[in-house]
Amino acid sequence: MKKITISADLEVYNDETELPQDVQGLMTQAVEAREKSYSPYSQFRVGAAILLENGEVVTGSNQENASYPAGLCAERTAIFYAGAKYPESKILKMALTARSENHKVEVPTPPCGSCRQAIAEYEVKQDQPIGVFFMGEKGKVVKANSISDLLPLIFDNSYL
Ligand code: THU
Repeated sequence: MKKITISADLEVYNDETELPQDVQGLMTQAVEAREKSYSPYSQFRVGAAILLENGEVVTGSNQENASYPAGLCAERTAIFYAGAKYPESKILKMALTARSENHKVEVPTPPCGSCRQAIAEYEVKQDQPIGVFFMGEKGKVVKANSISDLLPLIFDNSYL
């Protein structure tokens, strides 16, 4: 038996103004997308903005459904759209933000497990990491240099 230690370096910014200029702009677009969320059931609004290598920004928000599992998270709404519209363009970074209609979301809100898996697929596809910046409704922003820092031991096509 041997032990394996898994660790990751994340960066924590005190607020949006500390972010690099381009990421500030991306986060602003994520906030705008968040406000377009369709979330009548959870009242939890999530926005995602994705910067592509071709300079385009693709945004998305969570889209809920009366049949709850039929809804989709903001991250996957955005990344599937990016993959569908610009299949040849690499994804450089994404900004995420969440707020609730019912309480303050002050802690940075990371992508859920299914979204991490979906983002990981695109890192494999483009053979390049995706920077992920996530925030609550405002305040601290956490940066992961790659989704693999948030999802170690990912399941990818090498196992198929
Ligand atoms: N949600 C996201 O959009 N992204 C996540 O990573 C976590 C959860 C959405 C799904 C649902 O509409 C609401 O937040 C509550 O779970």
